[in-house]
Amino acid sequence: MLLQLAAWPEVEAYLRSSTAVIVPIGSTEQHGPNGLIGTDAICPTAVATELAKRITVLIGPTLAVGMAQHHLAFPGTIALRPSTLLALVRDVTESLLCHGFTHVYFLNGHGGNIATVNAAFSEIWSSTSFAGTNAPAPRLKLRNWYAGQRVEALSRELFGDAEGSHATPSEVSLSWFAHPEAVKDVTLSPTPAADGPIRDAADFRRCYPDGRIGSNPGLASVAHGERILEAAVADTLEDFEIFTAPDN
Ligand code: NI
Repeated sequence: MLLQLAAWPEVEAYLRSSTAVIVPIGSTEQHGPNGLIGTDAICPTAVATELAKRITVLIGPTLAVGMAQHHLAFPGTIALRPSTLLALVRDVTESLLCHGFTHVYFLNGHGGNIATVNAAFSEIWSSTSFAGTNAPAPRLKLRNWYAGQRVEALSRELFGDAEGSHATPSEVSLSWFAHPEAVKDVTLSPTPAADGPIRDAADFRRCYPDGRIGSNPGLASVAHGERILEAAVADTLEDFEIFTAPDN
């Protein structure tokens, strides 16, 4: 069930059988010359939406803007400072906790969000610690849709070292499968792109002029995206079931 398409009595009824919710989180940032700016939000949304067709689970609204300051030298990127993202994740999570949700699972599409979302969890747990409450701790998790063993094995099989770390052929393929109307036919050069560290926006554009890091998204395709989605759904389902198991 998608929260955005539910009415409140349906959410109330859902809470009588489950107190777990999945919140896709991504970014709005450049993804190289042929990758969609919404890639990091589109991918976890596609995985979560497919998951909801297979099991009974509530999917929250996608948090589509993330910590992407290092992409701001490319037009179209919209970024939150870490402090802003931390506040956003905290408020979204605590809203859900207010209603009785106990397990909040952020399905993430953007590496730049990881440190800040985990810091937000620490803030939430700190507030219950300092309040001295003895209630069960909220179960909170950040999971990267691309980090499961099935997705990693398939990416290696399809793309090898050309997977790289930003604007990867795996994420571009999945976003294209979700939105085939937006596939870009662009010739990339050189292939694959350079690899290296991330600092600020001007430095990023100097080091990675077309926006890619270590990747060749010229290998992306809608057909690969369909396979990657299937692998990601299986990985996520397995991990989500562990997350929501009674003893965890
Ligand atoms: Ni990405």
